[in-house]
This record gives sequence, C-alpha cells and structure tokens, in this order.
Amino acid sequence: MPNIALLPGDGIGPEVTVAAVEVLNAVATDLEYVEHPVGGAAIDAHGVAVTEEAMADAKASDAVLLGAVGGPKWDTNESGAVRPELALFRLRADLGLFANLRPIKPLRALYDASPLRRELIEDVDMLIMRELTGGLYYGERGTKDGRAFDTMVYTVPEIERIVRAAFKAAKSRVTSVDKANVLDTSRLWREVTTRIHAEEFPNIELEHELVDACAMKLISAPRHFEVIVTENMFGDILSDEASMLTGSLGMLPTASLGGDGPSMFEPVHGSAPDITGQGVANPVGMILSAALLLRHGLGREAEATAVESAVDKALEKGIRSRDLGGTATTAEVTKAVLEEL
Ligand code: IPM
Ligand code: MG
Repeated sequence: MPNIALLPGDGIGPEVTVAAVEVLNAVATDLEYVEHPVGGAAIDAHGVAVTEEAMADAKASDAVLLGAVGGPKWDTNESGAVRPELALFRLRADLGLFANLRPIKPLRALYDASPLRRELIEDVDMLIMRELTGGLYYGERGTKDGRAFDTMVYTVPEIERIVRAAFKAAKSRVTSVDKANVLDTSRLWREVTTRIHAEEFPNIELEHELVDACAMKLISAPRHFEVIVTENMFGDILSDEASMLTGSLGMLPTASLGGDGPSMFEPVHGSAPDITGQGVANPVGMILSAALLLRHGLGREAEATAVESAVDKALEKGIRSRDLGGTATTAEVTKAVLEEL
C-alpha cells in the first residue's frame, strides 16, 4: 500500500490538505497516511520547524504532500532564528529535490479571472522549471556589525542536472533565464546550458533571456514560453508573477522531483494568514498538487488526469472561490470537484 507523508503545516495548509485527501481517497482506496506538523505548528509543538521523526517518515514514504508553512506568529527579523520555512528547505535538500516543476496553464473557464486580457493568456501552456536546492537559498549567509550577506553558488553538475530535466520536459523550446550581464553564477549557467544543448538536445530550440526582460515578457507575450529553466530565487519570483495568468495564486500546484526517494507535492500559495480558519481558501492548487502526486509520485496517470478534468469541469460549471471573485467555500469547491469525479 502506498504510504503518503502528510504535512499540512500552517494557516490554510490544514484546510486545503483535508480537501486534497478527500479527492485522493475518491480515486485511490489503498493509500495510507502518516501525518506530522511542520513549520510553525512544529515549532509550537516541538521547538523545531521539522522533527527528525517527520523527516524519517517523509524519507520512508512513497510521496510527500505538504500544505503551507509560515505565518505572522513566527515572523522574526532575528538572524539565525528558527523559522517555519526551514522545514521546506530541509525537506527539499534532504530528499534531493532539485527540480521544481510549476506548470502554468490558464483554464478556459477562468480566462476572464486573470487581470490580463483574455487575448494575451489564451492558449498559454508553460512550465517553469525552478532549481530548488542551490543558489541563494542554500549559500553561506550572515549578519554582523551592521553588515549582512547572502551568497549564490552554483556548480557545473548542479546546473547540468536541472537543465537536462528542462530539455527532457520540452517539446520544442527551452528559455534559460539568468542575469549573465551581472552575475558570475549566471555566466556559468549560460555556458553549461549552451553546452548541454549542443551535445544532448540539438533538436530543441534554446534561448537565453535575462531575468528582468523575462519578467516583462511573461506579461506582454506569455504564449511565447514553453519551458523556462532558471535558478532558485529567479524561479521563485517568476512563478508568483506567472501565477496571475491563471487568475489566482490559489490555482497552482507544484511537484519537486529529482531525488532517489520520494518526491514532494505542494501548492505554490502560502499559508494565507489573512483568511485562515474561515473555510474560504481555494483548494484547487492543493487538489492539483494531489493530481501531480498521483502522476509523478505513484505513477497513476489515469487517476491524475481524472482529478485534473474534474477540476476543469467544476470550474466550467461556474464554481468560484473568493480569490476568483466568487463566494464558494473550500468545502463547496471540494464537493463540486468530487461530484465531477
Ligand atoms: C515557494 C515559497 C517558498 C520559497 C517560501 C515559503 C520560503 O515562496 O515555494 O515558492 O521561497 O521557496
Ligand atoms: Mg514562492
């Protein structure tokens, strides 16, 4: 029986996790769950963002499903403090999840929910492939005597493996995003990407784009992009920007892959403290993360597709949570998806 490590986390995390588990159980009757608090919830209960027991269970699982971590209660400016986000960084690093896939495909039914004009977002279908275990997130950092620093480091093998993953995911074009006019890491990134392209994937088009120009083009010509591959922090920023093409950050799922063991699945959205406990969070990002878990984590393509089309159909029939301008609650959106299933 496949074993899922369930890490609901903070804020709306637990609310959308309930929704995702209901949907998973509707398409798979053989799943077992082991649940642990992570993030602020784990800091409150155990004084750490993720316990060793949770790490061990996550490593032993077939897939990890995570809600969201963080919140004002644990926000501190203190350098070196125990922060909820440490749970994410530990899970990503220890599970070796260097490839973070953020698919962005606005649904036809939601074209008018985006702040961008319909004619710009029609037929957008892109994948942001974010490097997840290197760069500024994992570099040496510190604060002392009125001076603070963070370091961005990338090695050739780290760039090679994420760039290969991007080429493998692409049908015709990869856009590699960097800041090669400023950063050494970006110049190395560009050099390695160009070589991997020439040696291994000459039939796919490769273009290099500077991150600032890419940010602009995501809004002015989003259809241009198929697969974007970029380093950790640029990918973090560009994916929040690109989420608005789908109408709401609440819509986006992600899969973090690349390790020898289980992969991790979570919505792109955060813990949303402003709406926590009201039962109004959009569960779609989390439900679609469960679909990615079925596909990439358990190899159950038919079930994954069934969940995705149930979400499409429910939205086509008009169900809208608050972030999409509607009034449906988390439970109502979940029920609408379950009915389509
Ligand atoms: C994300 C989030 C995290 C990140 C935060 C919560 C640390 O924004 O997954 O995109 O920056 O990686
Ligand atoms: Mg982010």
